[in-house]
Amino acid sequence: TNFFAPYGVVPNFLLNNKVHCIPMVIEESSVVAASAKAAKFWLERGGFKAEVVSTTKVGQVHFIWNGNSEQLFNFFEESKAELIESISPLVINMNKRGGGLLSLEIKDCSDLEEGYYQLHGEFETCDAMGANFINSVLEAIGKKWQELVMTNLKFEQAQRDIQIVMCILSNYTPNCLVKAWVECDVSELEDAGLGMSAEDFAHKFSRAVRIARKDVNRAVTHNKGIFNGIDAVVLATGNDFRAIEACGHAYASRDGQYRSLSNCIIENGKFKFELEIPLALGTVGGLTSLHPMSKISLDMLGMPNAKELMMITAAIGLAQNFGAVRSLVTTGIQKGHMKMHLTNILAELKANVDEAKQIETYFSDKAISVSGVKDYLKKLRESVSPKSI
Ligand code: MEV
Repeated sequence: TNFFAPYGVVPNFLLNNKVHCIPMVIEESSVVAASAKAAKFWLERGGFKAEVVSTTKVGQVHFIWNGNSEQLFNFFEESKAELIESISPLVINMNKRGGGLLSLEIKDCSDLEEGYYQLHGEFETCDAMGANFINSVLEAIGKKWQELVMTNLKFEQAQRDIQIVMCILSNYTPNCLVKAWVECDVSELEDAGLGMSAEDFAHKFSRAVRIARKDVNRAVTHNKGIFNGIDAVVLATGNDFRAIEACGHAYASRDGQYRSLSNCIIENGKFKFELEIPLALGTVGGLTSLHPMSKISLDMLGMPNAKELMMITAAIGLAQNFGAVRSLVTTGIQKGHMKMHLTNILAELKANVDEAKQIETYFSDKAISVSGVKDYLKKLRESVSPKSI
């Protein structure tokens, strides 16, 4: 069967001087509204910018071998050409597209686990996310490596004993990296602060981001806001949001402390808000071209290649983060959230169109709560004559 999730669209999203309509699949409707608001805000200030820094992915053959590691390293160097030759049928198509296995190395990891080594491969998978490609290549390398070690007559009998523990890509892709940013003169933030001066808003905003770079409790929620945007596009385009999340959070902890993935700089009267994040995305293969809704999403985005999708996705993460932090340092988050939530409350209470209109008007300048809406709806219904019901 299927589980349906809401599909929204963010219009007027200016990225690298091109306007996009961005598809988002997410149950939290305020995320789409906040992204659209941030898109409109930056549309008038030069829009979003993004660039892909790198696109390399990695995978490993994890194995156990007991013996002299120098001998093993020498044997690996002697066998490398044969190992690479053995995977040629698997990589021929990817090579034609400009990708494939970029490098293969052996690593001594015996400080982590007795006798533990890795064959560590770097891959370029072009417009595919590449998980199947990388895993197939690694399994073939693992099989060949086992065969070569087990039949190497230069090793003593005990050294021919090798255990291939597993062959698998790594979803940690710090070298598949994209940057997105927005920037403007601080003076252009005049109406961002909703009553605050541009200068005060810029400094309060950047302080909020600084707090998220230093305090783990805040950092997790701050990054959750970024992933509100990112996951929604990743889902809409049929990509693997679990891989993207796991990698993003590991990247946020790369210096030993979990930190905000975004950063804000105010320098020489300029405000710059930026996000750097690894995003291993694909626009061919997997569900991307199979799922009819992913096809619609990619079509809506103008059939981007993987690098373009990386930039779009990072930019929407930044837009979402801007929207959330802007609300937090101005009106507070609940104003917007509860406005969206009111729609859900009205649906739950089965309010009709007229009742919904009256309730929306009544609560436009009041705090929204389920009990408040329930009470007001009850009053409305009581005030209506039985004849007109
Ligand atoms: C809610 O889905 C996301 C936020 O909590 C993000 C944030 O606090 O930055 C609003």
